[in-house]
Amino acid sequence: MEQKKLTTHLQHGLNGALAVPGDKSISHRALMLGAIAQGTTTIKHFLSSADCLSTLRAMQDLGIKITRDGDNVSVEGKGLTGLKKPEHPLNMGNSGTTTRLLMGLLAGQSFETELFGDTSLQKRPMRRVSEPLAEMGASILTTSTGTLPAKVIGKPLQGAQVKLKVASAQVKSALILAALQAKTPSTIIEKLPTRDHTERMLQEFGAQIETAADHLTITVQPQPRLLGQTVIVPGDISSAAFFIVAATISKHSEIVLKNVNINETRTGILSVLQKMGGNLQLENKSTGTEPAADLRVKYATLSPIQLDEKEIPAVIDELPLVALLAACAHGRSILRGAQELRVKETDRIATVAQELRKLGVLVQELPDGLIIDGRPAWDINDPVLDSHGDHRIGMMMAIAALRSPEALALKKPEAIAVSYPTFFSDLESLITLGEEESK
Ligand code: S3P
Repeated sequence: MEQKKLTTHLQHGLNGALAVPGDKSISHRALMLGAIAQGTTTIKHFLSSADCLSTLRAMQDLGIKITRDGDNVSVEGKGLTGLKKPEHPLNMGNSGTTTRLLMGLLAGQSFETELFGDTSLQKRPMRRVSEPLAEMGASILTTSTGTLPAKVIGKPLQGAQVKLKVASAQVKSALILAALQAKTPSTIIEKLPTRDHTERMLQEFGAQIETAADHLTITVQPQPRLLGQTVIVPGDISSAAFFIVAATISKHSEIVLKNVNINETRTGILSVLQKMGGNLQLENKSTGTEPAADLRVKYATLSPIQLDEKEIPAVIDELPLVALLAACAHGRSILRGAQELRVKETDRIATVAQELRKLGVLVQELPDGLIIDGRPAWDINDPVLDSHGDHRIGMMMAIAALRSPEALALKKPEAIAVSYPTFFSDLESLITLGEEESK
């Protein structure tokens, strides 16, 4: 695709209400658990983004009948042993979640599966999954550098006590999915608490899975009878975050983001905003397997922030946006303990620094984070921004552009479809209303 002209010079802020698309992590999991449950699983408000469609096609290639009508999906589950050997290697596209969770799910099956991905995914580390899975007897062959393409040689698994070396919900979930198929119970011990959608959803499907009071130790009983469910996917806080930040940094803004997931393993961006002096209110809270609320956000002037390792998992995907908030704050912000950013869809420490510098933001890279000197106004050095093929970098820069005094364009905007295909029209809907109201 050609470069996309971005909206700049925003005068009257963002206004209005928006329901963001369904949560990506929950959509992936609903497809996988639906496939290994007995009976039909109905998924409502499913996220039809490129990443979730990679999971959907992979499950179909594994013999599961799935029908989709807009954001309603129906999965005909075949039980824990009902998957079929695929006829060809499975294409994971750009999706780390699809790859890593499937490694756990396929490790205990009775067949071999080959997995491959796009150039970005083929650079991402997979030993973090294959090594702990091996402790349960799994056999996953990666390249000599521990990357895709990989072969998962399904075999009977043993329960184990596995201590994870990285704080990663993808790795944890892979272990849990393998543990369901093992002969004996398993205990998985996390380094830091990470998003717990797999645990919550599995409980709903009838599994026996418990998290200890330390929020780190998860016990999984093997061979459960999972029953198909109706999963209503709440709005993705990681998508809402782009507009939370857009409204916070754009004068005259007031928006409401409807029905956003506020699972506390995901709400780091709300805590960050609160600490920086943001103006945010939670309304119409609902409880359930996954809690949700409407988020009302207004423009605010911001103070700098310091983040360390233990705060990172709950804000991991929003760190590029935290860097943008820091760039708009008055003073020096320091983000540490975020070395995981180096192995995301791009090296997000490097890409965030490179792109924000184009706007004249003062950014220093650390091995595990960023130092950012915020300033109320920026001097544009280079008007051609680049997503680097990374959806979250592309969206963060489109939000940063709203404050630009100069015209800007974005290279590789198509990457945004990985998690948020309707991002630009949703952004426009909030801007148009604001601009019209203030005429
Ligand atoms: C995800 C976990 C996180 C997150 C990713 C989605 C998940 O990755 O960054 O976008 O759905 O489990 P890590 O497990 O690598 O931290």
